[in-house]
Amino acid sequence: MNDTIRHDLFITSIWTKKLDNFKEINLNLLKHCFKNDEGSDENIYGGRETFINSNEWLKKVLDSAEQLSMGIAEFMGVLKEKGRPPQISCFWGNVNKQKEFNPPHVHANSSLSGAYYVKIPQSDTTTEDQKFSAGKICFHDTRIEKCVSTPLYEENLGYLDLATYSSAKNVSHNPWLDNVAKFKPEEGLMVIFPSWLLHYVEPNLCDEDRIAISFNISF
Ligand SMILES: [Fe+2]
Repeated sequence: MNDTIRHDLFITSIWTKKLDNFKEINLNLLKHCFKNDEGSDENIYGGRETFINSNEWLKKVLDSAEQLSMGIAEFMGVLKEKGRPPQISCFWGNVNKQKEFNPPHVHANSSLSGAYYVKIPQSDTTTEDQKFSAGKICFHDTRIEKCVSTPLYEENLGYLDLATYSSAKNVSHNPWLDNVAKFKPEEGLMVIFPSWLLHYVEPNLCDEDRIAISFNISF
């Protein structure tokens, strides 16, 4: 391979950053922004989108999202063409009680989208398909045609489960073969991804709520 040049085509990147001072930010977000569930919007799968009170702590999170997006846009060369800095176009709270999840979706009319994790509960409860009890955020490769060349392992013969399939047992991530990439949420972590990228969040298996702030960003 020494004399071979690799050309990466159609790269899809996910960006993560742990916020400074996140413990204090999260304590105050929980105290002042997620006081109660009144006005929350429960969908048929149970995942709730809630209104959150705006204050200085929420502003710290949203400012960080815009700053990170600015770096991403500069890196991608988007700003040179349009010249307008990335701006938060909307934000909302995401509260998942036990067994609730977010089904596969994309974020419409947006350039980048993201999540900031305020509370990630812990428990020993797992299932055969889910080893992280609070649930991971999972991104799909939607190039469905790629599946025809995906190697079939014994457990997948004749059937490919796109929701859970990973390239091989005991391999955490193979960007050339995986159909799903799963990220473990951590308190204080911000994840930013292209808004068109199909994603879902596994069920929360813990007794306590999983709480995040979601947002869309436009260039
Ligand atoms: Fe989403």
